Amino acid sequence: MENDVQKKQEERKHPGVERVYKNDQIAIYWEPSLCIHVGNCFRGLPKVFDPQARPWVAVDADTADRIARVVETCPTGALHYERLDGGTQESIPAETTIDARPNGPLFIHGPLKIIEVGGHVIREDTRAALCRCGHSENKPFCDGTHRLIGFKTTK
Ligand code: SF4
Ligand code: FES
Repeated sequence: MENDVQKKQEERKHPGVERVYKNDQIAIYWEPSLCIHVGNCFRGLPKVFDPQARPWVAVDADTADRIARVVETCPTGALHYERLDGGTQESIPAETTIDARPNGPLFIHGPLKIIEVGGHVIREDTRAALCRCGHSENKPFCDGTHRLIGFKTTK
């Protein structure tokens, strides 16, 4: 019973997970529909995150600690991890902050819950990128279209 509840919560937290890369220390969850190719992952640990390789995540190429720190820099929530070795899980900041990116989306960091009409929870997370150009095909999330249309927030 408890497992069912946990599974439901996990599905709600990561509704679009398509891939899991794991070893004994860490599982990395990947939700491609949320990735806008910011590149923090492959700039942070290019041996682990290589978009040209298959699989693109080499979970054994570095330590679980270092991989976890880089996953936490993914601003969209496309990447998450779960420590399987008793290591520290991602911490939840006490406050939620919104970073309005120049010519781009709103990066949200902190406890967040996105609900739609009727109260259905479509996302509960600690990282997300929300569209503010109005042209994303994946609203309320940014899908990178702001770059294609040359969205400008300043003159
Ligand atoms: S850091 Fe996140 S959004 Fe950026 S490329 Fe990596 S997975 Fe995609
Ligand atoms: S801000 Fe990125 S698609 Fe709108």
